[in-house]
Amino acid sequence: MVVMGMLGGCSRPSAPEDARTVYDLRCAPCHGASGRGDGPAASHLLPTPRDLSDPDWQDHTEDAYLRKIILNGGLGVGRSTRMPGNPDLAERPEVLHGLVQVIRGFRRP
Ligand code: HEC
Repeated sequence: MVVMGMLGGCSRPSAPEDARTVYDLRCAPCHGASGRGDGPAASHLLPTPRDLSDPDWQDHTEDAYLRKIILNGGLGVGRSTRMPGNPDLAERPEVLHGLVQVIRGFRRP
């Protein structure tokens, strides 16, 4: 849920910007800046993270699944534990939602 209202005088960056920053810090090292699975650490990973821009994968993936794997890591959804959890984002739902939007934004036509 995105709260659209701007709080007067509040200089905090908007949730989408926060999410992009969180992605760059926490996810891009493995998933790559555009989600292609080509981050600097990706070649050391087994399994290697998939190409998140794949439209077929995007179409068959629910937002709820994305939120779950981001929060709980691979273990939470029966995938590899090489995908770490981010349990702190349970208290920052706007960032969690924003990360889902970042991933959706990687979709190729
Ligand atoms: C240490 C490397 C690493 C980091 C950091 C990381 N991931 Fe992952 N991620 C993986 C790996 C490896 C997989 C593949 C797991 C599998 O296929 O079993 C994965 C899987 C995923 C998937 C599921 C893809 C699928 O096949 O269903 C999503 C979505 C995802 N990561 C998003 C993120 C986001 C968002 C972040 C940052 C908050 C993040 N990851 C951080 C390594 C990482």
